[in-house]
Amino acid sequence: MCGIVAAAARREVSEILLEGLRRLEYRGYDSAGMALINDQNVLQIHKRNGKVKELEAAQAQEPFYGNTGIAHTRWATHGKPSTENAHPHASGGRVALVHNGIIENHAELRAELIAAGYEMSSATDTEVIAHLLHLSLQKGASLRAAMQNTIARLEGAYALAAIDIESPHTVVGARKGSPLVVGVGIGENFLASDQMALRQVTDSFIYLEEGDLVEISPASIQICTIDGEAIERPTTRIKEALETSDMGDFDHYMIKEIFEQPVALEATLAGAANVEQVEECFGHGASAMFDRVTNVQIVACGTSYHAGMVARYWLEELAGISCEVEVASEFRYRKRVQHEGTLLVAISQSGETADTLAALRNATEGEFIGSLVVANVDNSSLVRECDLVFLTRAGAEIGVASTKAFTTQLVAMLMLTLALGRRRGMTDERQSEIIEALENLPHYVRQTLELNGAIQKLSEAFIPKRHALFLGRGIQYPIAMEGALKLKEISYIHAEAYPAGELKHGPLALVDDDMPVVAVAPNDELLEKLKSNLEEVRSRGGELFVFADREAGFANEDRVQVLPMPHCPEVIKPIVYTVALQLLSYHVALQKGTDVDKPRNLAKSVTVE
Ligand code: F6R
Repeated sequence: MCGIVAAAARREVSEILLEGLRRLEYRGYDSAGMALINDQNVLQIHKRNGKVKELEAAQAQEPFYGNTGIAHTRWATHGKPSTENAHPHASGGRVALVHNGIIENHAELRAELIAAGYEMSSATDTEVIAHLLHLSLQKGASLRAAMQNTIARLEGAYALAAIDIESPHTVVGARKGSPLVVGVGIGENFLASDQMALRQVTDSFIYLEEGDLVEISPASIQICTIDGEAIERPTTRIKEALETSDMGDFDHYMIKEIFEQPVALEATLAGAANVEQVEECFGHGASAMFDRVTNVQIVACGTSYHAGMVARYWLEELAGISCEVEVASEFRYRKRVQHEGTLLVAISQSGETADTLAALRNATEGEFIGSLVVANVDNSSLVRECDLVFLTRAGAEIGVASTKAFTTQLVAMLMLTLALGRRRGMTDERQSEIIEALENLPHYVRQTLELNGAIQKLSEAFIPKRHALFLGRGIQYPIAMEGALKLKEISYIHAEAYPAGELKHGPLALVDDDMPVVAVAPNDELLEKLKSNLEEVRSRGGELFVFADREAGFANEDRVQVLPMPHCPEVIKPIVYTVALQLLSYHVALQKGTDVDKPRNLAKSVTVE
């Protein structure tokens, strides 16, 4: 959600900043901007509404250069997407600043600055920070001291990077509530909201902690508290290969990532050949903590929340352990009563989602016996702050709609079910069955991917539609929810999911011959009940699209199209069926001509409340 890149180097940095923005663009793409201090110590700024390519065009048309600079790609919060509201925001022709997060007391600061003679040229909450910095600099403070003075006035969340023409070789940054990393170079240093932006120039990073302030120059990195007390933070060397792969032979990241799932699942499962090894995936101390767990509380948002909902079925049914699942943005603001022995489990692809992070931080002393995060990004805030970590090995997910991160999260949660289940009487036979099903999962996902052509054909029926219903029963209900979320976010078709048994309690009123109804129908014990629910739809003229186990006894007939799914072990069906629904959304969106990888109004990592 918004991206920051900054550089203090001895070489020209405009291309480094633009490349950083390209790598971050999936996090926010309403508008973009860049500010550089040139060799005459003059501040130059390009800002453009729209995607990073608009900024590149501006730079190509009127190039400017410098060794010190900041850049930003925006996902609008305060103020609509526009050139005026794009970052960097400047003040007095001397200072420029980029910001991720939300400043809650901006209105009060704005009034104060206007009274002090500042003119506002945007509707953002960020502009006030630039003027506060300027005000402090004008009173003689150094850039670092001005940043200290400024953040002392801010309420809310921020990651910041600022430059000042009076300190032309320095960038100052600060973090509270939004991530910021230092990229450590040789004779040059960088800042970014995500290390991925800087993998082109360095593999060494310092992860700033909450409340840290940093000053970088080509030769130095100084980190301190808001009070100016120096702090040391470790440097981490990233080992894996460059993460931003290109799209290869695919037209979009989303479809590439859907097809990467067998490999992502294999990587996530690697080394978990038996239950003891499964436990090792949760890190040091997991075994002792799992011994004490009697309840699980899951918090997550969006697609990750759906992973939590699936996990509840597994944890309660297979492991016999009680489990609550809640959307993090609700959990954090609710007065709660926890049972003793509850493990807090956060699920987050990015590890940076503000609401999930806040839910973790808002847990009171003694409320939980410990915390566990399932995340796809190492060194992310949740990974650093939780007691136990399960890292899914999905690889970088660039498409805004989560696909491979979700299915690997489900694997992680099934592995947690195994680890907790064996402590609560899960038989050896059951454990082996689950492990075997997991081992075969990539195979069933590959079989599902072979249905791509058939799903594309089926998707054509959705093109003229404005609404769709998704139905599931039991553990497939959250999968229906995930299918509906995927369809609405990338094709903009309004889609809702219901447990099929709820249909007659209201949503059936919506069913007519213009309402496609997607049903997730594996061959489980609820099948017969689901079949009756589907009859309720058919008899009202609804058009059914049934994703059914090929042994479930469904056949194509008038207004019923069946997609025969691989016959696979019950326990992994939620994962296998998800893949088919991802393909459905992708093909609908593709034919509707929407921006599949960057759907409107959304961002990959939601680091604001
Ligand atoms: C939807 C999607 C979002 C995220 C949600 C949480 O396709 O990707 O709903 O799942 O914003 O993000 P993470 O998992 O990073 O916490």
